[in-house]
Amino acid sequence: MAMSEILVTGGCGYIGSHCVLCLLDGGFDAVILDDFSTGRRSVGETLASADSKGRLAEIAEGSLLDPESIDRVFENRRIDAVIHLAGSSQVAESVSDPGKYYRNNVAGTVNLLESMRNHGIGRIVFSSSAAVYGEPKYVPIDENHPLEPMNPYGKSKLMVERILEDYGRAYGIRSVCLRYFNAAGADPEGRSGECHEPETHLIPSIIRSLLDGNRGFSIFGADYGTRDGTCVRDYVDVGDLAEAHLLALRYLEENGKSDRFNLGTSSGSTVREVLAACERITGKKIRAEIRDRRPGDPAALIADNRKAKEILGWEPKRTLEDSVRTAYAWEMRRRGLTSSP
Ligand code: UFG
Repeated sequence: MAMSEILVTGGCGYIGSHCVLCLLDGGFDAVILDDFSTGRRSVGETLASADSKGRLAEIAEGSLLDPESIDRVFENRRIDAVIHLAGSSQVAESVSDPGKYYRNNVAGTVNLLESMRNHGIGRIVFSSSAAVYGEPKYVPIDENHPLEPMNPYGKSKLMVERILEDYGRAYGIRSVCLRYFNAAGADPEGRSGECHEPETHLIPSIIRSLLDGNRGFSIFGADYGTRDGTCVRDYVDVGDLAEAHLLALRYLEENGKSDRFNLGTSSGSTVREVLAACERITGKKIRAEIRDRRPGDPAALIADNRKAKEILGWEPKRTLEDSVRTAYAWEMRRRGLTSSP
């Protein structure tokens, strides 16, 4: 690919930082636009140090809500394409504070697109979500599944997908929307990993409960109509997700079209199966208690990933155990502990 520089918005966040690592390892230069509201400065420092095959990421601190800070990034560089991950991503928070989600995710994206238009940049890979589908009508979920998001987070992602369609028709900006299922795992070299505050996601929650003196982990509901009564999710390794962004860039370079793809493994694991994988990897028995269902959780979410495989040539390679292993090593490292699972 004959590209000069890729802008990654939200490049110091969980998935964004792995995309940046993948770009650097793949021989690209990356510039990161991040406002550090949830992105981490320590990850930014790692990405900006030139240890990734001589490539380094440049950090431009700024917000998508400040159009001038976006313009400045485009003005000073030769940017070919944008990978857009900046935004807010907590489902429960989106219900209690929808304004934040429509502002950060929708208005912020419109600012980005306007700046792209003004600077003649015509390609964008957008981080969408399985949340655009809402309560599944069938699984595995393909890209033709009805789009009925159940919360402002999912609605904001779908709104951006619609906006991208209109920008494609009117201004020729081409886009690939990647609908992530459940991102998991960390960089095997320990350069980045998951770290939300508060942490609500399953795998880091289990690991933290263990490392906090095995204080007990809550299983949200064991009375679903699934094989062991707990919810099924499609956990896809963040390294595999990151690789899909590079394939999406290539797709945009080679095709005159826009498209959208599910990113999942096409196989689901229950909460109890994930817990068992964590116990195998850590070699510890993890205390768990069954609690009430968490409101809004569907019983099962599994991707049909055939489209991404066929059209992008994407192949998820890491297993759930790989994701748990790297997530555990990352959390140990974050706490200054040595990892010897
Ligand atoms: N769970 C527990 N205990 C916990 C945390 C989670 O039992 O302490 C369960 C949840 O009930 C759920 C499963 O583990 O069944 C996975 O929960 P996560 O919070 O890790 O992930 P979600 O499936 O809720 O959310 C993910 C993404 C969202 C996205 C959503 C799409 O994190 O960004 O999928 O529906 F919107």
